[in-house]
Amino acid sequence: MKKYFTTKHIVYLSLAVLFCLPLSNATAQKQAETAKMNAFVSGLMKKMTVDEKIGQLNLVTGGMAITGSVTNNGIADGVKKGAIGGIFGLYGTDNVRKMQEAAVNGTRLHIPLIFGLDVIHGHRTIFPIPLGMSTTWDLGLIEQSAHIAAKEATAEGLNWVFSPMVDIARDARWGRISEGSGEDPWYGGQVAAAMVKGYQGTSLKNADAVMACVKHFALYGAAEAGREYNTVDMSKIAMYNYYLPPYKAALDAGAGSFMSSFNVVDGVPATTNKWLLTDLLRKQWGFNGFVVSDYTALNEVTNHGLGDLQTVSALALKAGLDMDMVGEGFLSTLKKSLQQGKVTMADIDLACRRVLEAKYKLGLFQNPYKSINAQKEKTDVFTDANRKAARITAEHSFVLLKNANQILPLKKSGGSIAVVGPLADNKRDMLGTWVIAGEWEKSVSVLEGIKHVVNDDVKVTYAKGANITDDTTFMKRLNFGPGMVSLDPKSPQDMLEEAVKTAKKADIIVAVVGESQSMSGESSSRSDISIPESQQLMLKALAKLGKPIVIVLFNGRPLTLTWENDNAAAILDVWAPGTEAGNAVAEVLFGNYNPSGKLTTTFPRSVGQIPLYYNHLNTGRPYSSGPTKFKSNYLDISNNPLYPFGYGLSYSKFSYSNINVSKTHLKGDEILTATVTVTNNGPYAGEEVVQLYISDPAASISRPVKELKDFKKINLQIGEKQEVTFKITPQQLKFYNSQLKYDWEPGSFIIQIGTNSADTKTAKVQWAK
Ligand code: BGC
Repeated sequence: MKKYFTTKHIVYLSLAVLFCLPLSNATAQKQAETAKMNAFVSGLMKKMTVDEKIGQLNLVTGGMAITGSVTNNGIADGVKKGAIGGIFGLYGTDNVRKMQEAAVNGTRLHIPLIFGLDVIHGHRTIFPIPLGMSTTWDLGLIEQSAHIAAKEATAEGLNWVFSPMVDIARDARWGRISEGSGEDPWYGGQVAAAMVKGYQGTSLKNADAVMACVKHFALYGAAEAGREYNTVDMSKIAMYNYYLPPYKAALDAGAGSFMSSFNVVDGVPATTNKWLLTDLLRKQWGFNGFVVSDYTALNEVTNHGLGDLQTVSALALKAGLDMDMVGEGFLSTLKKSLQQGKVTMADIDLACRRVLEAKYKLGLFQNPYKSINAQKEKTDVFTDANRKAARITAEHSFVLLKNANQILPLKKSGGSIAVVGPLADNKRDMLGTWVIAGEWEKSVSVLEGIKHVVNDDVKVTYAKGANITDDTTFMKRLNFGPGMVSLDPKSPQDMLEEAVKTAKKADIIVAVVGESQSMSGESSSRSDISIPESQQLMLKALAKLGKPIVIVLFNGRPLTLTWENDNAAAILDVWAPGTEAGNAVAEVLFGNYNPSGKLTTTFPRSVGQIPLYYNHLNTGRPYSSGPTKFKSNYLDISNNPLYPFGYGLSYSKFSYSNINVSKTHLKGDEILTATVTVTNNGPYAGEEVVQLYISDPAASISRPVKELKDFKKINLQIGEKQEVTFKITPQQLKFYNSQLKYDWEPGSFIIQIGTNSADTKTAKVQWAK
């Protein structure tokens, strides 16, 4: 008989089986779980009426109207009727339990609700605003912050968060730039993935896991002129290369849900955009979770000009929208559309299945009360450990924009400091935008923080010096919640004089100024992105004293700071740092932590330069050393930003060696290593974010002048040196070409490593296919 297998074959075969086993086991287990879920959901759906199915697609708000008008009334009745699939804006174990009981005990099929909330940068313990989180360049801290938020949110009965917000933004006029990770697609993707992992943990079934909701899909950050809710118009190449990567990265990290955006994408509102919600998201990218609309975004499609509520609801369902937030378009029209043949039962079933699957994945059918734990609500929320994590994260998020003559860090003993400005003795504005459950009364002001840190022999004095703004019309718009911004009973002139008098007696002035909480975030576009005039007047009066001014800057966006950069001794950008704001600011001002944050957005010199971003394309007539006729520039201002992407100083000084590349000629899948030696030449130990950029100067399409490809955050003692090596593969050279094919093209590449996008060492390599 012919021998088919030798002993050698058998050994190889057994080894192969052995190695494949764990993999196939895991895949088989996953498949079995999916099959189990499908069988469960199919079984349930067989029992459901059309109305009950449509009810699952309806998301209502349970508490206050957060960002718009509330059209839902009588929530408990709606729940009992089976007309509601989920509630958001409601938290606290008592509140959530009541509603969950109404759903589970009060409905025919006992289907649990999903409970969502805008948990954006912490739940009770508030972390820095997302833009500030991104400037830490510390993915571990970012993931941890999301995990802590998840623990606190689940302790209060929640299982779904409307985060991460991953919209790339290149326009600082847009107030929601504060909610994202800035302008870089690759780094935005890294942050998005870290947040998803932090929220969802190892399994959505865990009691402390919440389902992430990636928003706003898609391109919301490219609203024309930075005007909120405005039109977006973009080429496919720009979408694929610069705006879509963070959404995809969040999906690849396992995000369970997506939120459609308010804007149009290629002319069609995102909420009714089949190309976006089905062809791209599900077919190209393989997303298998559910899509919720943004707040009344479905109803707003009527204003976009696509028809009445019934028409747009049918369009949205067919496009791939599964849940309607607040607008009740699905609830009030889908049955009629079914009867009229405008949607099919299969369309409704598909959306209903996806919502039920999310509840299944969260383990809510097994235990609808899984995260409702009155004990945990008392012990796991706003703990000392969580506050410490928030403080450390805040310290890492601060960006030192200027530090002339090493004025910072300040001395902890001796001398006198005048702390001035409307944000100095202020708790409310420490938290920033989107802090639904955050209690501002519990946050630490900068003045308090400074007093905690300095020794008794430092004289700390205080004067408010100015209102946030003196413009009462502007103030009215800022006050969408009660008492957010108000005028001081003292006149602006009296306040200013008091500040000058206080500052005169001090050695150093710490001016705590910038934007208040409601000046950035949703619906907070500004055409003038400078520090409000009232505060500028105060700074100018103080500057006349000739004493060093240290600006502690609060902001939810890049601001125009040319006067401040010329006149202040130091500027520490602290964004909106959260609950532990004052403590974190003081730790950094007095050198207990050496700042290491780096910008993730470009700071323009003037609002007229916007959009301004580092990874722009070259033009045929590039700007070189100064404005001139017949070049791509302005006649009245340089093209360069005030502070470039990736910029941020340290109390120490880091120097970079030239780049050492492993090869200058590479082929195919070879790996290039590029190494620099970074030395801490300054007087403090500190951290540095070493950044890798690559340029592709000749390709089939015009490519950005440089693109961030990797970074490493290192820690160096005084005098210490470290070799930092990046391994570069052709994968990192890929881009979408005119045919939207994702590939790399052979040729020369310029490798750049440095301390920010405008200050790098370079090396050139040739890479053949
Ligand atoms: C915002 C979303 C938010 C939703 C629910 C909308 O106005 O655009 O980011 O998640 O409201 O509060």
